[in-house]
Amino acid sequence: MRLVARKPLEQILHEGQRTQMKRILGRLDLIAIGIGAIIGTGIFVLTGVAAAENAGPAVIVSFIIGGVISGLSAFSYSELSSMVPISGSAFTYTYATMGELMAWIIGWDLILEYLVGAATVAVGWSSYVVSFFSDVFNVHFTKKTTQAPVLWDSSSLSFRVNEGAYINIPAIFITLAMTLLLVLGIRQASWVNRTIVCIKLVVVLLFIFGACRFVDSSNYRPFVPPREGNSYGAKGVFKGTQRVFFAYIGFDAVSTAAQEAKDPQRDLPWGICLSLAICTALYIAVAAVLCGIVSYTELRGQASPLVYALTFHKDTRWLRIMIELGAICGLSSVILIMLMGQPRIFFTMARDGLFPRIFGRLHRKFKTPYVPTLVSGAVCAVLAGVLPVDILGDMTSVGTLLAFILVNIGVIVMRYTHPHVQRGFTVPGGPFLIPVPGALIALVVLVLSDGPTIYRLFIWLGIGLVVYAAYGYGHSRIGNPERWSDEDVAYFKDATDEGDEERSDIREPIKEEEEEIK
Ligand code: ALA
Repeated sequence: MRLVARKPLEQILHEGQRTQMKRILGRLDLIAIGIGAIIGTGIFVLTGVAAAENAGPAVIVSFIIGGVISGLSAFSYSELSSMVPISGSAFTYTYATMGELMAWIIGWDLILEYLVGAATVAVGWSSYVVSFFSDVFNVHFTKKTTQAPVLWDSSSLSFRVNEGAYINIPAIFITLAMTLLLVLGIRQASWVNRTIVCIKLVVVLLFIFGACRFVDSSNYRPFVPPREGNSYGAKGVFKGTQRVFFAYIGFDAVSTAAQEAKDPQRDLPWGICLSLAICTALYIAVAAVLCGIVSYTELRGQASPLVYALTFHKDTRWLRIMIELGAICGLSSVILIMLMGQPRIFFTMARDGLFPRIFGRLHRKFKTPYVPTLVSGAVCAVLAGVLPVDILGDMTSVGTLLAFILVNIGVIVMRYTHPHVQRGFTVPGGPFLIPVPGALIALVVLVLSDGPTIYRLFIWLGIGLVVYAAYGYGHSRIGNPERWSDEDVAYFKDATDEGDEERSDIREPIKEEEEEIK
């Protein structure tokens, strides 16, 4: 049956070795990519909202639970990316395990995580820049050019006009700047990312160590505030987890750099797991300090809670300026990595015939997938320019959760369909201990999202199915081998300098499997 036709793993790996992306990313670069994508709006914006509106000081527990949920899926991503080191990430793993239709659905869904995710963070970046200029230089930008023309009203669950606002120009600017950098080369992008990651780590540590002297233990009481409507109590802690889940999104972007990693089988699991572990520890510490230096009730409605909490204490002006600067830098790297991940997924889908083939070309000189990079950047700029942050953020979270579910299932399927293929990393405890709770918890968090968010997810997937029926089904390489003429093969070959020379600098698991079987 066409729709469940799986792409043979041998073919996936063989084609992956033939692309001419530059393999220049080492282990540290991959860890930096993970941290670059993870630390952003979640910690700099959502921590305060989750504490004030959902969990109180127990937002610390919300962060711990969020870290555990993400950790389960990080193990699964590590196993699959070390086994199938291809930049299509969850799309490619699903193609090999559940067939073309599911792969298409998840490829389409990943647009929510990466492209919409980048737009979300660009909007957060814009508000930090506006408040930085106003606080530090007393320069006030008009709302007309710094906010989206519509707002989402969560009480009436409907859009309303944002009077006096037309377009978010700073959000468009940062999106286009990062897009340009990504076209110029992965080396340049990685270098900028590493620099930004160092700055944001220093700033987060500065907050933790600089502000901990103001901690007053009375602010932790009551640790779990009594339930009030839908807020606080045990339910509030869980709602807080849903809210701060956004903070953990991004570790999986490491897997989209698989074809630019020097030794992907060995280093991708390090990049994924270590970046997540470092960020989880930092998040818990930041949440603990934040709730200790001010009462959680003060944080309601604050877009920059870390900075605001410090205004309650003397001699913190420099610390506040550093944090604002760090947040601006930090959010830039999230946009950069999200906009790095998206085109690489489009690139892989195009090479499988599911997207127009122009998306599968590499730039002759820069060796980057420049067409999908430019298209992703342009679409992201439009979204960031006209939509409000909460709509974008919710869509990013549900899109990511769906991908987590399929990746966890993918590990189980692969253990049975390809038991002998070498894995650079194996999820501990067998095929069920981690992937089953990983998939189930992601499913529960997804199902408990707001109704409109789930409807929008279905509408988005429905649009995806129409696009698949109109294009992908008839052009898929697996489904229509006869349509893949020599001309198509030559097209991708022409897009590179070295033609179809095979790369021999990554290990070939299939060969090892064949030897084992002999
Ligand atoms: N985890 C990223 C952030 O919080 C998406 O901005």
